[in-house]
Amino acid sequence: MSSDASWWTTAAIYQIYVRSFADGNGDGIGDLTGVRSRLDYLAQLGIDAIWFNPWYRSPMADGGYDVTEYREIDPIFGSLDDADKLIVDAHELGIRIIVDVVPNHCSNENVWFTQALDAAPGSKERSRFHFRPGRGTDGELPPNNWESIFGGPAWTRTRGADGSPGEWYLHLFAPEQPDFNWESEDVHAEFEEVLRFWFDKGVDGIRIDSAALLVKDGHLGDMSEDARTLAPGTHPFIDRDAVHLIYERWREIADSYPDPRLLIGEVWLENVERFTRYLRPRELHSAFNFELLGCAFEADKVRAVVDSTRASHALVGATPSWVLSNHDVVREVTRYGRADTAFAMDDRRIGDPVDLVRGTRRARAAALLVLSLPGSVYIYQGQELGLFEVEDLPDEALQDPIWLRSGRSDRGRDGCRVPMPWSGSAPPFGFTNGEATSWLPQPAAWKDLTAEAETGDPLSMLALYREALRIRRGEAELAREDLDWIDAPVGVIAYRRGPELVVVVNLSDTAIELPKDATVVLSSAPRDGLRLAPDTAVWLRAAGVTHIGPAPARPVVGTSA
Ligand code: NOJ
Ligand code: CA
Repeated sequence: MSSDASWWTTAAIYQIYVRSFADGNGDGIGDLTGVRSRLDYLAQLGIDAIWFNPWYRSPMADGGYDVTEYREIDPIFGSLDDADKLIVDAHELGIRIIVDVVPNHCSNENVWFTQALDAAPGSKERSRFHFRPGRGTDGELPPNNWESIFGGPAWTRTRGADGSPGEWYLHLFAPEQPDFNWESEDVHAEFEEVLRFWFDKGVDGIRIDSAALLVKDGHLGDMSEDARTLAPGTHPFIDRDAVHLIYERWREIADSYPDPRLLIGEVWLENVERFTRYLRPRELHSAFNFELLGCAFEADKVRAVVDSTRASHALVGATPSWVLSNHDVVREVTRYGRADTAFAMDDRRIGDPVDLVRGTRRARAAALLVLSLPGSVYIYQGQELGLFEVEDLPDEALQDPIWLRSGRSDRGRDGCRVPMPWSGSAPPFGFTNGEATSWLPQPAAWKDLTAEAETGDPLSMLALYREALRIRRGEAELAREDLDWIDAPVGVIAYRRGPELVVVVNLSDTAIELPKDATVVLSSAPRDGLRLAPDTAVWLRAAGVTHIGPAPARPVVGTSA
């Protein structure tokens, strides 16, 4: 393992949703033994690090984002010993490990929360969370009007042992996820210890869940109707200034290790200036840049996102990251197969017409886009196989709390969490080898998208990712920080990454001609000579090329008669 402290600035980080990656003990649920058995696959793919979604002890009310004990592995996934072995195995293969820390909330089964329920109002135990008396004559109304991000009120009323109603507690997500009170010193101390626990085990970094939500306005008053128009930093629970003090402290801990550890924030903020504050030199190293993930697959919009991302990161000297997909959003093959390719969390549009052929074609082009932009890049398991969103999961199979919390109007995120297809021609596609079926059913159509089927097929998505990652690793120009736009026809984006390497993405409806003196390094689709079809991207070696397509018209100067 090299000890290059800036390894993450160009890293390709593979996201593993453990429950759905590989099942090692035949119970139908992915686990750490399963991951260990597939590390070779990841080494061959050519990634630099793995980010694991939460693997801690949890009742799994929200896929493990409801943590009972942050220093234990859930028995469904294995043991601490398995985690230790996994870290060692991965490091031997040159793969770094990032774990997910969830500091905004825990599980309602966390011992601090059960102690708080047993303790009296105003007690130290309750001060670690946000407990408040209700409003109304008998406290029957929630303390304020905040809504849970998963739907419904953000407050749940407690009941005493005798069933009598008591105080309410705050949960920005599900009721099984009580929010910590970050004004409590105990909470600070607990998480500093959790960080050290995992860093001492050799993990190379942490992903911080809901990183902008930790600090609440202590008054917990009603939110005005127009929360979206609030001045930056004045929202009662999103992006409050004091949250930065927490990360400054965490950065000191991360930097105290001889091999400095990485801090990555999950920060969803529309205001890019506020977003990049988290990346100031004394805070987080990196944060997921979700701009591209929501952006329509249209040339001017993609280009605007690349520009705004680079400009905002430059303000604080930070390195951008690029994300097409994760365990919370509709898979990009499906998004890009829709007539409207933009995506919004609160509008998943499950069931909208999808052209999977076109979606796959665009996802291939998008892969060459993100893998050639300056910065780090995330690959969500199955993205490299071109998996599509499973939109027809039966109602009774759905497990995401969003489904019930939304009154069954939002089918939630299970469709992107369906277990990986590894081999064979029918479910469970090598995901599990026991009697049990996989915890979510896989579509029969994934028979063509298994790792086995795609290995050795030069036209597969897997082959494209492997080749692109191989080139990315060896190509010094792709490791640079700069990017220069090149003139290109409407609907086409083109940029230079160094003296030779040029990237062209054709998002228009017509084929374009590539420059005659260019050599194609990698193409997202088979080409007809130097013609680049719609929804296709190429990496070129094109030293002197200054424009793509016809020469741009220049204003004529000095033509006085
Ligand atoms: C963000 C995670 O990515 C998501 O899966 C989870 O439900 C919420 N945070 C709450 O922890
Ligand atoms: Ca298992």
